[in-house]
Amino acid sequence: MNFTDKNVVITGGTTGIGLATAKAFVSAGANVWITGRNANNLQKAFAEINSSKLNTVVSDTSKLAEISILEKAIEESGKKVDVLFLNAGIATFEPIEQVTEANFDAQFNTNVKGHFFTLQKLLPHLTDGAAVIFTSSTVATAANSGASIYSATKGALNKIAQIAANELAGRKIRVNIVSPGPVLTPGLENAVPEEAKAFLAGATALQRLGDPDEIAKTVLFLASDAASFITGTEIVADGGYLNYALK
Ligand SMILES: NC(=O)c1ccc[n+]([C@@H]2O[C@H](COP(=O)([O-])OP(=O)(O)OC[C@H]3O[C@@H](n4cnc5c(N)ncnc54)[C@H](OP(=O)(O)O)[C@@H]3O)[C@@H](O)[C@H]2O)c1
Repeated sequence: MNFTDKNVVITGGTTGIGLATAKAFVSAGANVWITGRNANNLQKAFAEINSSKLNTVVSDTSKLAEISILEKAIEESGKKVDVLFLNAGIATFEPIEQVTEANFDAQFNTNVKGHFFTLQKLLPHLTDGAAVIFTSSTVATAANSGASIYSATKGALNKIAQIAANELAGRKIRVNIVSPGPVLTPGLENAVPEEAKAFLAGATALQRLGDPDEIAKTVLFLASDAASFITGTEIVADGGYLNYALK
């Protein structure tokens, strides 16, 4: 796919799905801005991608003041954003009895508040006809024990994305959702114990974990003209995980 000179913003672009998507967009010719909370992680991602087309911004998406830092970086670039990939996200898994207020707030502030206000603050900087992609998850549909708060954040996000698609259609902005199943990333490795990875792989029809590059390809499709009549919907890229669970 060709994204030559398109401008792409990716929140949470230092590892996992965000990093893979940043690489894919840079390879397709785009100028890419990635964010993260940690300057070292951003530096590592910068060294790995090794392209003058990559820009890094330290910006914690859970804090409105730091979303403003991203907005300022875009404003100062003088560029308009063609693709906004809202991807920064965190997950913790525990039974309801063990959920703390801090865990609840951290997940909602990152996964929901962060996506929402990044979209709101970057709206004036999006081109008419831009593509916005929210990163949700199969957990928004499944009801796995231990995932009450994480699942709730992704369910909330899906509804925001659907309504954004309707509100922004007047500017020809398409808004869609990518919902990965289990994908082997640092985020997954940190969130679940080692033995759970084999369990999750076995819970997919394809009997394996996804690769971040496979989600990146889905994002590039949704961002491209090939998806010009697709808005307000969700693409589930899960190796058959949701369907397999129902068999
Ligand atoms: N892996 C899976 O199986 C899976 C499945 C379904 C959905 N997802 C979703 O996919 C997205 C990416 O997950 P991943 O697996 O690739 O995880 P990951 O490897 O942990 O990557 C998460 C990225 O988000 C950044 N980030 C986290 N909190 C942030 C914050 N407050 N502000 C800015 N950046 C922040 C991280 O950078 P810093 O740590 O440097 O800030 C990192 O770049 C998430 O939304 C996740 O919910 C993942």
